[in-house]
Amino acid sequence: MIILGIESSCDETAAAILEGPAHFDSQNPSELKLLSNVVVSQIDIFKAYGGVIPEVAARSHLEAIMPVIHQAFQDADFPPDDWSKIDAIAVTHTPGLLGSLLVGTLTARTLAILHQKPLYAVHHLKSHIYANWLEQSSLPTFPLLALVISGGHTQIIYMREHNHFEIIGTTHDDAVGESFDKTAKILGLPYPGGPAVSKAAIGQVQLAETNETITLSQPGDPNAYHFPHPQAGELDFSFSGLKTAFLRTVQKICNVPISHPSADLKNLLNPQQIADLSASFEQTAVDILLEKLQKALELHPDAQSLVFAGGVSANQKLRSAAIAHFSQPGPLSQPVFFPAPRFSGDNGAMVAIAAYFEAQSQVQPTDPYSLNIMPRSVIR
Ligand code: KG4
Ligand code: ZN
Repeated sequence: MIILGIESSCDETAAAILEGPAHFDSQNPSELKLLSNVVVSQIDIFKAYGGVIPEVAARSHLEAIMPVIHQAFQDADFPPDDWSKIDAIAVTHTPGLLGSLLVGTLTARTLAILHQKPLYAVHHLKSHIYANWLEQSSLPTFPLLALVISGGHTQIIYMREHNHFEIIGTTHDDAVGESFDKTAKILGLPYPGGPAVSKAAIGQVQLAETNETITLSQPGDPNAYHFPHPQAGELDFSFSGLKTAFLRTVQKICNVPISHPSADLKNLLNPQQIADLSASFEQTAVDILLEKLQKALELHPDAQSLVFAGGVSANQKLRSAAIAHFSQPGPLSQPVFFPAPRFSGDNGAMVAIAAYFEAQSQVQPTDPYSLNIMPRSVIR
């Protein structure tokens, strides 16, 4: 079965072509073949604004979507406009930015009708989880616990089997990716904040205003500052309190009152302070995520795998801390899975593979004439 996956929920326009066997054999993951994977990111546009502007994102998707799909055909060595090889189309229809989702979804609907292909409507968080089945030498086994950590979501999901999702923890306010992005803004680091904070934490401070990177002689100290771990429900998160605590700490370091405009604070910090604050923030975020995941594992001891998903799963500190934490001998020792780095951010391959496993589970394709987008929705 060959699936074209289309993704445009935020600021990446992406398409990929995936081939999988008619009947999946979990012992033989190499039978899943990614024939192409094209991602056009709008990051360079939004760097100038320090964040995504939804209307601009939608317009950029509109310009990029057909060229990206054509490129995916070309990279797969498929003749242009030869749709005979494609068995199904999959698209992200929820959740995400309204205008962005519309572009991908309307394109997919039109192509499905025009070329008479089944259309799979895929939930974005499901795709992020299924990115862990792409180009892996061994695969997660069920039941599993997935920690979904992106710019819009922070959730712990229990999966009894394929296509079964039970949200057992969620954030009460900000997502963890959003808190990285806000931290970066306060520190004067560029958008997107996650990679910039990580880089600053190892002593590579890139200033958004000048785009200059200052290399320090030593990395940031993760113990330089201490931030509270917010008290939410047992498996829930709250990152807005961390953001406020971070802001108060920076105000204190800069010796300014709390009424001081946060946009000006970056001018009062030196590069070593930026590195120390980045490292301390990153350490706190990693500790909070792993603490909650450990709690989830204690409450669901039948889990066989721990799966990380979403943009924040690219974080190197999180990766090494998770592997160290969950590989210690004992009852909480569990195999840990991360998407290959190129699949941790938004891409079309994860949409195609999520649809592939829907097809394997006999989930019926959707009606291309009536498929709607939903800016918000829970995973299902
Ligand atoms: O999954 P994603 O690409 O888009 C959404 O579905 O939201 O996630 C984007 C988020 C952004 O908040 C970005 O700052 C964060 O992922 N991110 C990171 C890293 N790379 C991306 N956060 C921490 N460390 C990283 N290395
Ligand atoms: Zn995403």
